[in-house]
Amino acid sequence: MLSELDQIEQSALQALKSVQDETSLEGWRIAHLGRSAPLMLLFDQLGKLSKEERPVIGRRANEVKRALEAAFSARSESLRQSALQRSLQSERLDVTLPGRVLPVGRLHPTSSNMRSIIRVFADMGFQVYRSPEAETDEFNFSLLNMPPHHPARDMWATFYTTMPNVSLRPHTSPGQIHVMRQYAPEPIRAILPGMCYRYEQISARKETQFNQIEVLAVGVDITMGNLKATISDLARRLFGQNMRTRFRAAYFPFTEPSAEYDFECLLCHGKGCAVCAWTGWLEIGGCGMVHPVVLQNGGYDPEKYTGFAAGLGTERIMMLKHHIDDIRYFWVNDMRFLEQF
Ligand code: PHE
Repeated sequence: MLSELDQIEQSALQALKSVQDETSLEGWRIAHLGRSAPLMLLFDQLGKLSKEERPVIGRRANEVKRALEAAFSARSESLRQSALQRSLQSERLDVTLPGRVLPVGRLHPTSSNMRSIIRVFADMGFQVYRSPEAETDEFNFSLLNMPPHHPARDMWATFYTTMPNVSLRPHTSPGQIHVMRQYAPEPIRAILPGMCYRYEQISARKETQFNQIEVLAVGVDITMGNLKATISDLARRLFGQNMRTRFRAAYFPFTEPSAEYDFECLLCHGKGCAVCAWTGWLEIGGCGMVHPVVLQNGGYDPEKYTGFAAGLGTERIMMLKHHIDDIRYFWVNDMRFLEQF
């Protein structure tokens, strides 16, 4: 039996040498230390031995068992270590490498510009009102005091659609009617931002699509003075206390009296350039006192209420602010332009 134990020990230790991974190690444990391993079966037979033999064989059997258990845990530990080494090698991380930059999107400059102008109006107590980009003939013209065949309609070279009576809005003014009809007879201080479309001769300062902000205040005792103060205050809030503005008499069917207003051209500081058409001033929009017919169409009694309205070309404001010398940059999607904002 002693030689059988030697045999068991040697062949087990021999077999352990070829164990290379956790699964075969577990297989080895079951085969050599498990319930039906030769060593364990031998323990079962100890009871049958004589009194003299039993302690000798028993001691040796325990020795073999401890030797196998020690070899098992040594092997297990070395397998764990080499697995660790392997993963440290293969998953090596160099924390000093520069990271990969993720491209992050941002607002288009017209949107962020629009938002900053809206913030200034919000400070002055105006609320934003949304109105549609496609309107019926009634809203684009008739309700703004331009019945069909009125020659003033020619002031807006409009994009008509294949749907009878529907055209893209050439200005944000039709929104005046929507907002008045919603709030009459309450006083209004609203701005209506959005895209407008006109068939234009494209140039450094004119595009066929552009953003406008319509400004509308309706109430009791609203005057032309309030209009001029609001526009000049806007210019100063946007460009600083020294920003100059001017108003020129003009004609719009939906305001009376009407004016056009200009901001000083900051691209050339009055010297004259392509953007301001060599005048030193950049036209920002039209304005005036809301025509009594329009007030009436909006649901206000023109005997009691007055109002002022203005349209603001927001890309032109951004051109002044950032010295952009051509309005066409806004829509050509050139990354070299867009990435500057
Ligand atoms: N809607 C006019 C335009 O786009 C501007 C304007 C707005 C004029 C409000 C007067 C009052 O040309």
